[in-house]
Amino acid sequence: MSRIESAVKQRSSLTHNRLFRNASLMALFVALASCQSVPEKQITDTPDETAETTETPDASQTANASPSDIHPELWPSIETPPLDPAIEARIDEILPQLTLEQKVGQVIQADSGSVTPEEVKQYRLGSVLSGGNSAPGDKPYADAATWLAAADAYYNASIDPEGVEIAIPVIWGIDAVHGHANLLGATVFPHNVGLGATHNPELIGEIASATAQELNISGHDWTFAPTLAVPQNDRWGRTYEGFSEAPSIVASYSAEIVNGLQGKTGAEDFMDNTHVISSAKHYLADGGTENGIDQGDALISEAELRDIHAAGYAPAVESGVLSVMASFSAWQGVRMHGNKDLLTDVLKDRMNFNGFVVGDWNGHALIKGCTATDCPQALNAGLDMYMAPDSWRGLYESTLEHVKSGVIPMDRLDDAVRRILRVKLAAGTFEKGAPSTRPLAGDLSQLGSADHRALARQAVRESLVLLKNNDGVLPLDTNQTVLVVGPGADSIAKASGGWTLSWQGAGHSNDEFPGGQSILSGITNAVSEAGGDVIFSPDASADVDADVVIAIYGEDPYAEFRGDLPNVDFMPNDFDPEALSRFRDAGTPVVSVFLSGRPLWTNPEINISDAFVAAWLPGSEGGGVADILFQTDPNFDFTGRLSYSWPKLASQNELNAGKEPYDPLFPLGYGLSYDDDGTVGPLSEDSGIDESERGDKGVFLTNGAASVPWGLMINGTQVDAFPFTLENVEVSSIDHTAQEDALQIGWSGPGVFAIGSYGQDFSRESNGALELAFNAVSRGGPASLEVGMGCDAGEGNDEDCAAFLPVELTSEWQEIRLSLSCFADRGVNMESLDRPLILMGTPGQTVGISEVRLATDTNGRIDCGS
Ligand code: BGC
Ligand code: BGC
Repeated sequence: MSRIESAVKQRSSLTHNRLFRNASLMALFVALASCQSVPEKQITDTPDETAETTETPDASQTANASPSDIHPELWPSIETPPLDPAIEARIDEILPQLTLEQKVGQVIQADSGSVTPEEVKQYRLGSVLSGGNSAPGDKPYADAATWLAAADAYYNASIDPEGVEIAIPVIWGIDAVHGHANLLGATVFPHNVGLGATHNPELIGEIASATAQELNISGHDWTFAPTLAVPQNDRWGRTYEGFSEAPSIVASYSAEIVNGLQGKTGAEDFMDNTHVISSAKHYLADGGTENGIDQGDALISEAELRDIHAAGYAPAVESGVLSVMASFSAWQGVRMHGNKDLLTDVLKDRMNFNGFVVGDWNGHALIKGCTATDCPQALNAGLDMYMAPDSWRGLYESTLEHVKSGVIPMDRLDDAVRRILRVKLAAGTFEKGAPSTRPLAGDLSQLGSADHRALARQAVRESLVLLKNNDGVLPLDTNQTVLVVGPGADSIAKASGGWTLSWQGAGHSNDEFPGGQSILSGITNAVSEAGGDVIFSPDASADVDADVVIAIYGEDPYAEFRGDLPNVDFMPNDFDPEALSRFRDAGTPVVSVFLSGRPLWTNPEINISDAFVAAWLPGSEGGGVADILFQTDPNFDFTGRLSYSWPKLASQNELNAGKEPYDPLFPLGYGLSYDDDGTVGPLSEDSGIDESERGDKGVFLTNGAASVPWGLMINGTQVDAFPFTLENVEVSSIDHTAQEDALQIGWSGPGVFAIGSYGQDFSRESNGALELAFNAVSRGGPASLEVGMGCDAGEGNDEDCAAFLPVELTSEWQEIRLSLSCFADRGVNMESLDRPLILMGTPGQTVGISEVRLATDTNGRIDCGS
C-alpha cells in the first residue's frame, strides 16, 4: 500500500465513528478506503446508528464499558438556588390552562430561517433560535433594527391569545459565544481559547455582562453560551470554544460567565433587562470524543466524565444556570440526547438542576431509532426542548401522537413544560413586554460602546502568550520602520474565527465590522503616533529596508466539524511562512503573531521568528496586540499563560497536563514576560508524522469546505464565505448527502473556479497512478464540463501550465475519476502543483461538486481521452 493509500485509509478510520448528519458520507469514506466507487443506491437519508457502534470500545480504557454503569451517587450533589414559591404557584396555575397541543409546542424550538411568526402562533412553539447563518434578511448577520423587528414579530405572535386560554411568550436564542457576533457593530471578544490564557475569571464575568447587554439591544432573550467543554484532543474543530484542557480552569470560569450573563440568582438585577438566559453546553464530554472527532463518541470512564468533563457544570448549575444544552456526542455509544442516566439521573436528580435541557441542532436525530421528525426517546430521557431547526413541524406532529398514545408519559411532558415555564417566569419573559419596548432595545450607544471595546481590548492584551523572545526583541520601539506582513494583519474576520457574522466566519471584509479594528490598524496607530513608519505587504513581497518585520498569519476561520484536523500540524494555506526567511537571513528581526483556535505544531515558524506570540482568535479589537508588542503603556506586559499545552510534535493531538505521556514543547501555564529570558533555541523540524499524514494534501474539498492547505478560488481570488459571486462565477453551499457538504458553481459568463494552494509536490502520486476523484452533478445548462489541473489559467498565467479534460455530467450525482498521469502527460508540473482542480464552465452552466480528493487508481477504468 502506498503512503497516500494508507493516509486515505487512516482518514477513513478516523472518520469512522463520526456521526454525520446522515451516514452516507461514512459509506463514501468506507468505499474510499477500499478503493471502490460508491453506488448511488447506498446513499440514503436514514441515520444508521449501527455503523458507529461497530468499533467496540477497548475494555482496558473503559472501566465502565456498559452505559448502565453510571453511578449518580458518585457525582457531586449540588445545592442549587431554591425554587421560588411564587413562580411555582404560577406554574401550577398556568399548566392546567394549557392544551395538550400547546404543551407539545412549548417543547419545540424552530430556527428563524424555517419558521414564520404566524407558525409560531399556530403551533404555540416555545422558542425560536437563529442558527449561525439564520439572521433575518439576506445576510447571515443583521443590524439591531432588523433583529428587533423580527424579535417583535415572533414575540407578538406568541402572545396572541386567539384560540387559547393563556398564551405563553416565546424566547429567542442565538450563539453569542464571543460577543453577540451576528449583530452588526457588536463587540467581538476573543474566543474562549484566548480567554483561558488570561486566567482572569473576573474579566470573563465582565465580558459576559457586556455581551448580555448587547443581546438586549437586538431583542434576544437567550445565548447558547458558555461552552464548558474541556477539550482533550486538539484535532477537534471546536477546541477554541473551550477555555482550557484543564478542568480546574474551566471550573474557575463557569460561574462567573453564568452570573455575568444572567445576573446573580437572588440579586436585584437577576434577569433584568440587561441580562439574558444562559446555556451551559454541550453536556457532556463534547471535548472528550475518541480522536477528537466532532460529534463523536467519548470512550472514557465514568470518572473521567465526571472529573474532567463535568468540572464546569457543577459551578454553573450551582449558580443557577437556567438551561443546559445536550451534546451531539455520545458516551460509550449512547447519544447524549438519549442518555437518561446523565440527563435525568445525574444532571437533574443528583445535581439538582432545575432549569431545562435544550437539544442541539437536530441532535435528537442521532439517537438510535430516531429521525429529526420523530424522537420520543429524547424527551423520555430527559431532554426538555428539542432544537428542531427545520424539522419542527414533523416533530410536533409525531410528539403529539406519542403523548396521545402514551409512548411519552404525560408526567414527563408536564415536567418539561414546567421547567420551560420556570425559566420563562424567572427570566421575566411574561412581564418584559415586546422586545422593542425593553430599555436597551435599539440603543446603539450601548452597541460596541467604548467601554465594551476597551474591555475586549484588555482581554486581547491579557490573552496573548509570548512563547519566544530571543535577544529581547520585544517590546518594539515605536519610532522605527515596521514592515507588517501576513494575511491575518488586516483581516478582522481571520482574527475572529468561526461564529463571527456567519457560522463559519470566513470571508468577511473589515467594513462588516463597523467600529472594529484590525491588528494592522492598531499597529499603524501606535507607530505613526510616535513618528515611525508602517509598511504593509500582505504576501511579504515588498522590497523595503525595515527595522523589524511583524508577520500575522495562522488558521483560517472554521466552526464545528469543519475544523477537525487529521493532526495538530499547522498547514499554512494562504501564506507561506518560508517567505520570512529572507528577512531573517538579512538580519531583520521577525516577530510572528500566530492566529489559531488551538495550539499547533509550529516549530518551523518558531524557528524562523525571533519572537513568537500565540494570539489565538482575538476578535474585533486588534489594537490590543499593538498595546503589548510596543508596550504603549509602561504597565503593559505579557501576562497570558497557556491554558492548553503546546505540542513538540505534530502527532501530539492529545497532550494534556497530568496525563502521561506528557512531553510538550511548552507546558500548561507557560508564557514569558518581558523580564524573562525568552531564548528558545533552534527546534527540531521533524514533525513526528509520516509525510503521508501531513494534513490533507490529498483531500481537497470535504464536508463542503476546502481542506487545509487548500482554498477555493474564483479567477484567482480566494473565497470562503457562501454564496459568493465574483465576475461571472457564483459559488454556494448545497446538500449532497449531508447538510451543506457540496458546492454549487454557476457561470454567467467565462470564468474559472479552482481549488488551490501554492505549489505542492504530487510527482510521486502521479507516478503512482493516483486519480483525482470527486462527485459531480449537472444542475443546469450544458452537461459537458472542462476539468483541469495545473495552474490557474484565469490568473493570466500561461495557458500551457494547465491541462483540461472534457467530462460529461448527468443530472444524477456520479463519481468522476481522472488519472493524474493524464495531466502529467499533458505537461502539468506535478512537482509544484498549484491547482489540483480547475473547472472552466460555460455561460449558463451550473454544476455541483463534493468530496474532491486523490484516490487510488481504478485499474485503467479511466483513459485520458484524445
Ligand atoms: C452547535 C451549537 C449551537 C447550535 C445552534 C449547533 O450546531 O453545536 O453549539 O448552539 O448549533 O446554532
Ligand atoms: C447553522 C448553525 C448550526 C449548523 C449546524 C448551520 O446552518 O447556521 O447555527 O450550528 O448549521 O450544522
